[in-house]
Parts: sequence; C-alpha cells; structure tokens
Amino acid sequence: MKAFVLERYGKGGALRSVEMPIPELRDDEVLVEVHAAGVNVLDAKIRNGEFKLILPYRLPLVLGHDVAGVVVKVGRRVQQFEPGDEVYARPDDFGIGTFAEFIAVKEASLAPKPVGLTMEEAASIPLVGLTAWQALVEKAGLTKGQKVFIQAGSGGVGTFAIQLARHLGAAVATTTSAGNVALVKSLGADVVIDYKSQDFEDVLRDYDVVLNSQDGKTLAKSLRVLRSGGKLISISGPPDPEFGNEIAAPGFVKLVMRLLSSGIRRKARGRGIGYSFLFMKSSGRQLREITRLVEAGAIRPVIDRVFPFQSTNEALAYVEAGRAKGKVVVKIK
Ligand SMILES: NC(=O)c1ccc[n+]([C@@H]2O[C@H](COP(=O)([O-])OP(=O)(O)OC[C@H]3O[C@@H](n4cnc5c(N)ncnc54)[C@H](OP(=O)(O)O)[C@@H]3O)[C@@H](O)[C@H]2O)c1
Repeated sequence: MKAFVLERYGKGGALRSVEMPIPELRDDEVLVEVHAAGVNVLDAKIRNGEFKLILPYRLPLVLGHDVAGVVVKVGRRVQQFEPGDEVYARPDDFGIGTFAEFIAVKEASLAPKPVGLTMEEAASIPLVGLTAWQALVEKAGLTKGQKVFIQAGSGGVGTFAIQLARHLGAAVATTTSAGNVALVKSLGADVVIDYKSQDFEDVLRDYDVVLNSQDGKTLAKSLRVLRSGGKLISISGPPDPEFGNEIAAPGFVKLVMRLLSSGIRRKARGRGIGYSFLFMKSSGRQLREITRLVEAGAIRPVIDRVFPFQSTNEALAYVEAGRAKGKVVVKIK
C-alpha cells in the first residue's frame, strides 16, 4: 500500500511517500480501507519533534490521526463490525497512521460513520470532536445556562466545540479574526471578539469555563475572565502532573510537567480556579455519541480544504500555517 512516513524529526521536513505492506491485524483490531484522513496540528507537531517526551515514537512512522473508510477485515475477537461497514475513528496513540491506504484500528476506538456525511466530512471529525467532548463534557461538565469561552472558534477544535457547547445549552464567547466572524456566528457563538483589534479580557467576565488553545500569555489572561470556582482547560499546554500520571510518564518527564505548569497552577489556585491540561484520547464510545449528534443535525462538520493524497505534505503545511477555517482533509480513495 502507499503511505506517507516520517523518517526523521525536523521542523518543516517532508513526509516520504513509500510502498509498504498492509498492516497485520491483531485479534481486537479492524482493518480499514482509508477513504479520507483528517489533518491535525498534532501531525505537524509530531513531525517537528515537539512531542518526543509525551509520545516517544520509533521512526519510521506513518502519520495521520483521523480516518473515515470501509471495513475490509476484522480480527477474531471483533464483535461490532464486519466487512463493508462504513466507519470513522481517531486511532490510538502508537497505533496512528491514517496517511495510508489501509490502517488497523482497535475495535474500541472505532464507530459507525454518521449517515449522510461524505467520507471527507466524516474524517474531519474524530480528533477535534473527541477533544471538544472530553474538554466540555468530561472535564468541564458544561451545563445549560453556563458561559464558556472557546478560543480560536474558527479552527478545527473551535468550530466543533462551539456547536457542542451550544448543544449543551451554554452561552459561547469566542475569538477569531474579522474575516471569520460570520462563520463562528453561524455555528452559534453568542459573543465574538476579533482578537486582532480587541482584548478578550476587556469584554468577558465571570465565565464558568475557558477552553484554551493558544499560547502561555493567552492562558494567563484567561484566568481573569473566569469566576472563582471556574475551570481553565488547556489543550495547548502546559501539561500538569495529573496528565503525567495518566500516561504513566517516567519520573523525569513528570518532574518537567510539574515545573512547566507550576506557575499557572499556582495562579489558578490563588483565584479559586481549577487548571487542567487535556490531551485527548481515542474513544469509540464517545465517537458514537458524536455520531448521534451529527445525525440529529446538532453538529455539522466544517471543512476548509480537501487535498489529494499525493499532496499530503502540502495539506500538512497548510494546517501548520494556522489559518484553517475548520478542518483540512486528505482524500485517499
Ligand atoms: N491537547 C489536545 O488533545 C489537542 C487536540 C486538538 C488540538 N490541540 C491543539 O489546539 C490548538 C488548536 O488546534 P486546531 O486544530 O483548532 O487548530 P487550527 O484549526 O489550526 O486553528 C486555526 C484557527 O485558529 C485561529 N487563530 C489563530 N491564532 C489565533 C488567536 N491568537 N486567537 C484566536 N484565534 C486564532 C485562526 O483564525 P484566523 O485565521 O482568523 O486567525 C484559524 O481559524 C493547536 O495547538 C493544537 O495542537 C490539542
């Protein structure tokens, strides 16, 4: 099969297009013919070597964290899928590799593709959808009537998170630049701040939850818009000690995480705010909930561009440039 592999870590380096064997199937895995693969900032960050501590991959590595496709074969213990099923997934860490014609995915990470979506639309959802779900439902426990500030509402995570927060009954504030105001409003944002001309700190007060996806300065400023008892959830770091425990990181990595997050944890504590870092995980169970919301029309995918398979490196560069409106997808079949 054809695949795009990372052979050497390095900023801006190209993935190499290679021929390689179709992955072997374990008993609890499903072999999926990849029709479309979502592209994520995480792919670029792994390629750049920024995730070596958290995800110590051995190279060469097929990149790609989102898949939509068709089941071609199932392992002996697989019960919920059979050949011909249309599915989608965010494969497990250390089991990624959707920039390829086939991938073996754990049954537990897979869900039926939402009816009515194209393969490209379905492939745009899993990683950002699960991120939004795990931040807003699992960590924040966001409920009707609460106020949430979702940064970068026009990005991959933001376009999904705004819709999910609205579905949960929360009021949503977001940041984006002027050209994307109509987009985020169409997704349900109540308060839109053009981050190039306005400071969100001057506008937002007493928020219950902030979903931070930007730099350290933005993270620190986010504390000031939260009420006491509010929750600051960051998906762009710094990782906290709980996360180190969750991934059973070695002692020195846990120490690094403790030190990196000590400042924000101390400031948050001082204001009675809970700080936590989230690194999303695969989950077929949560993806099924997302399938239901998409099929019910509560959430729609937002796609900026679809690239052909041979242009996977260009797709990655486009995402890395940071201007995507919604998601970028590679069409493989
Ligand atoms: N920890 C996790 O599990 C996890 C999961 C998913 C993503 N992430 C991280 O979260 C971040 C966002 O991911 P993403 O996929 O949503 O990114 P993305 O799709 O690449 O975000 C692009 C969008 O961000 C907007 N933007 C850029 N700078 C901004 C700023 N200063 N303020 C507000 N909006 C801004 C851009 O709008 P304009 O063009 O208008 O500027 C653009 O629409 C990345 O760092 C990613 O690695 C983490």
